[in-house]
Amino acid sequence: MKFSLAIASLLVLPFAAAAPTCSLKSSSAASVATPTSTSTATPPGSTSTPTNPGNGSVAMAWFANWHTDYTVANITWSGFNRISYFGAITSADGTAIITVSDSSPSGPVTFVAAAKQNNVFPVLTIGGWDGSIYFSSSISTSSNRTTFVQSIVSMVNKYGFQGVEFDWEYPGSTNGLSCNTESPQDTANLLLMLQELKTALPTVSLSAATPVKPWNDASGNPSTDLTSFAKVLDYVEIMNYDVYGDTFSKVVGPNSPLDDSCAAAADQTGSATSAVKSWTAAGFSAKQIVLGVPSYGHGYSISQSAAVQANTLAAYPSFNTNNPVTGDSWDAAGPDACGISQPASGDFNFWGLIAGGFLNEDGSVASGMTYRFDNCSQTPYVYNPNTQVMVAYDNAQSFTAKGNFIKQAGLAGFALWEMGGDYNNILLNAINGAISGSS
Ligand SMILES: *[C@@H]1O[C@H](CO)[C@@H](O)[C@H](O)[C@H]1NC(C)=O
Ligand SMILES: *[C@@H]1O[C@H](CO)[C@@H](O)[C@H](O)[C@H]1NC(C)=O
Ligand SMILES: *[C@@H]1O[C@H](CO)[C@@H](O)[C@H](O)[C@H]1NC(C)=O
Ligand SMILES: *[C@@H]1O[C@H](CO)[C@@H](O)[C@H](O)[C@H]1NC(C)=O
Repeated sequence: MKFSLAIASLLVLPFAAAAPTCSLKSSSAASVATPTSTSTATPPGSTSTPTNPGNGSVAMAWFANWHTDYTVANITWSGFNRISYFGAITSADGTAIITVSDSSPSGPVTFVAAAKQNNVFPVLTIGGWDGSIYFSSSISTSSNRTTFVQSIVSMVNKYGFQGVEFDWEYPGSTNGLSCNTESPQDTANLLLMLQELKTALPTVSLSAATPVKPWNDASGNPSTDLTSFAKVLDYVEIMNYDVYGDTFSKVVGPNSPLDDSCAAAADQTGSATSAVKSWTAAGFSAKQIVLGVPSYGHGYSISQSAAVQANTLAAYPSFNTNNPVTGDSWDAAGPDACGISQPASGDFNFWGLIAGGFLNEDGSVASGMTYRFDNCSQTPYVYNPNTQVMVAYDNAQSFTAKGNFIKQAGLAGFALWEMGGDYNNILLNAINGAISGSS
């Protein structure tokens, strides 16, 4: 979970670099369908008002507002019905704030107008890996909650967002950024804040991006009863990725496992299957669960003798932890929002695997690479013997498996991190095809 949904806060650090970052993506990798340019002059609300996708059909993505080479004009709206503007952070003064100016090509005015024109439900995300520092302090007292809630109400009314999503990484937990404010009362206070916001904005859809295990209770353990949250939130989007990663794991494992009950006991670290079990046991219905799915993988430095055994890729091998991999052009080392320098994340977007020579343009494995599809996690691995980098990623096959799971488990749909990570909609078409039953 640690490095998901990072936000490079332009207000805090100009080039804050958690994963992914502001660095430029090579134009050779740019391949999304030609975007239709949208009018920035249209005020929010003057276009159609898209309907909340509702039960059984959420096709969502997060749009990060910090890429200079992927802006609102680049968004592929088709195939999605809900897109969250990844866009707002908590701030030291106890309010929530949007990180770019209104006139930015990725600003909120442009985003909401374009979403409504494309009949996509526009949501505002608050938080993220680098944006959760002041969540705890902003909601810790009744008067602080009111200040925080009012700042959200103002943004919703000003820009015309129809939903608000909270991506607090993480309530009641020390697993987030090192300078996050925190309290054992975080989860309890989150409920009070959500209830106050729902009263203030009764017609706005509220949701939350969550870790695979339910938020911690006051004793620091995963909550077992979140039924009060299930009454105020339309959805939880479970971030089923970064389950393994090169900057925090000891072995190469799946980024986004569909299942882990079939893995060896030591390798059972969480999966879509176990996450859905624990969130439904805590009181959310399957219809309120959106599965978070990644359009990126984690790269690991590993020698050929350790990586390739008996002509296939080794399962859960150790890797060179002292040699961090730099992923694609959206990846870079740099300071986090606490000002502490961090290595590159080693992340490759799906287009980055193509730009980096791991995959062909149709998503198939490039010649000279070694490939393995893990039947338990239902995710692929690819190894480049020249660069000695192994990537645990997702492809059309794993997205088809995830789509089938969403359908069979009766979940609400999927949420993609992140808009702009796919290549020619290969991943999007696979998951939408499986959910709609056409593959
Ligand atoms: C985004 O859109 C701009 C303007 O149309 C275009 O020049 C650029 O190549 C696009 N970027 C990507 C990543 O598709
Ligand atoms: C899903 O459907 C149930 C009843 O079928 C309804 O109570 C609930 O509000 C719906 N949820 C959403 C998000 O539309
Ligand atoms: C309330 O919010 C202010 C910032 O506006 C913060 O300085 C203070 O610490 C917060 N109170 C608590 C108890 O966290
Ligand atoms: C994985 O599943 C495929 C298709 O069902 C099968 O052909 C293959 O032998 C399986 N591999 C392993 C290692 O179980």
